[in-house]
Amino acid sequence: MSLNTIAINQRMDKFDSHDSVWLFGYGSLIFKADFPFLDRRPASIGGWSRRFWQGSHDHRGTETHPGRVVTLAPEAGAICHGMAYLVTPEEFAHLDHREKNGYLRLATEMHFEDGGSAEGIVYIATHENAAYLGPASERDIARQIASARGPSGPNSEYLLALAQALREMGKPDEHVFEIERHLAALGVRQPDA
Ligand code: SIN
Repeated sequence: MSLNTIAINQRMDKFDSHDSVWLFGYGSLIFKADFPFLDRRPASIGGWSRRFWQGSHDHRGTETHPGRVVTLAPEAGAICHGMAYLVTPEEFAHLDHREKNGYLRLATEMHFEDGGSAEGIVYIATHENAAYLGPASERDIARQIASARGPSGPNSEYLLALAQALREMGKPDEHVFEIERHLAALGVRQPDA
């Protein structure tokens, strides 16, 4: 089931008066930056783990056959590595549309890999949203990903692109890499692997 979060996110006006805002990306926002940005820096946020626990009915699956994409699950002591983008507040109209299936804007502190920190925005899909699928074994997640596809392409493409981007950043993520291994066992691999 999908839930359109655009209207809720538009009411989040914390950074509206700023000239620019840092956006923390940990999923497709790492490997698909389809928006203009003023700066980009590897960064991390504390207290969260990246998990393929969110259903995708609009990008990597359909209403009847949802795919799985990442959200962040709270976990004490965990650090999630990703990419921070400095954007103008106007970009959030496009981002709210892209992240509309259950993701809410949350203000967060992010730490830049090359030093310093800033408060900005991260999109998180909590367990309370209608598209949330929740935990499953990495094997079952891989099976679901292997068979799902939506308007943005095969679900496996999302997983493989994220795994590749994290590898290139030197930020291994065992949850993501284990799903990648199960996908390989199912015959789904990086195009050049
Ligand atoms: C993100 O990338 O930060 C949010 C989740 C996604 O769009 O994959």
